[in-house]
Amino acid sequence: MRVLLVFAHPEPQSLSASLRDVAVQELEAAGHEVRVSDLYAMRWKSQVDRADFPALAPNERLQPVAASKAAFATHTLTDDVRAEIEKLLWADALILQFPLWWFAMPAILKGWVDRVFAFGFAYGVGEHSDKRWGDRYGEGTLAGKRAMLIVTAGGWEEHYGARGVNGPIDDLLFPINHGILYYPGYDVLPPFVIYSTDRFDEARFEAAGQQLRVRMRTFETAALIPYRRQNGGDYHIPSMELRADLGATDLSGFALHLRRAAD
Ligand SMILES: Cc1cc2nc3c(=O)[nH]c(=O)nc-3n(C[C@H](O)[C@H](O)[C@H](O)COP(=O)(O)O)c2cc1C
Repeated sequence: MRVLLVFAHPEPQSLSASLRDVAVQELEAAGHEVRVSDLYAMRWKSQVDRADFPALAPNERLQPVAASKAAFATHTLTDDVRAEIEKLLWADALILQFPLWWFAMPAILKGWVDRVFAFGFAYGVGEHSDKRWGDRYGEGTLAGKRAMLIVTAGGWEEHYGARGVNGPIDDLLFPINHGILYYPGYDVLPPFVIYSTDRFDEARFEAAGQQLRVRMRTFETAALIPYRRQNGGDYHIPSMELRADLGATDLSGFALHLRRAAD
């Protein structure tokens, strides 16, 4: 398997960097080929702006969606973005690794997504009709490839539990897992999350490393998050609302978009 690991932490001596090294070693030991995009080391430009679209005339209004569509179609995206798209096409699997910062990914990684997930590549793909609503949510350019998150969080695991004050971790990561990874087609694995990271000692690092090694060993075979297919009949098209007879009646929000055995 060919794996791309996109890494977003500024410090080579961080816990995140040490966990990255464990993941890479384990994948390579299993015979997988790994490439790492270390965004801070690459000095990745995180903001979308006119410089991303060299073909845009100086006085032309910048409409990011239209500009992205035109640049992807005419192969005029910038070299840094094109290189990342090539890596995504090369890889059978994608890992995004980051520390949880303000309940989200660091800005540099969000900027990687904003710039690399171009129109025609990661969104705006496929036909929109009364039968299907584009190729997205499990379908699309990156369909058939696997993806997962490796996240470190300062807060306690209980704080991210079902009744925890921070909100459940699966809810907090839903916009990334479902909105960023599943959207362009990836099969998404449950995330690997390490908690209470600001109180880490050798013993905890050993234990976390062991758990991460297991997750890397099972990367190719582990069960996926069972998101629903948008064109598979579960949703009304074009409103894209889940059918009233699916999902438990007391469910709402993100959990509705997980397939249940009963549906
Ligand atoms: C700007 C910033 C925002 C943070 N926000 C959160 C947060 O929302 N939730 C949380 O659990 N920890 C938060 N933390 C703590 C980090 O998740 C923690 O420091 C990190 O996981 C430690 O890993 P590292 O040693 O690799 O940096 C935040 C840290 C920083 C610097």
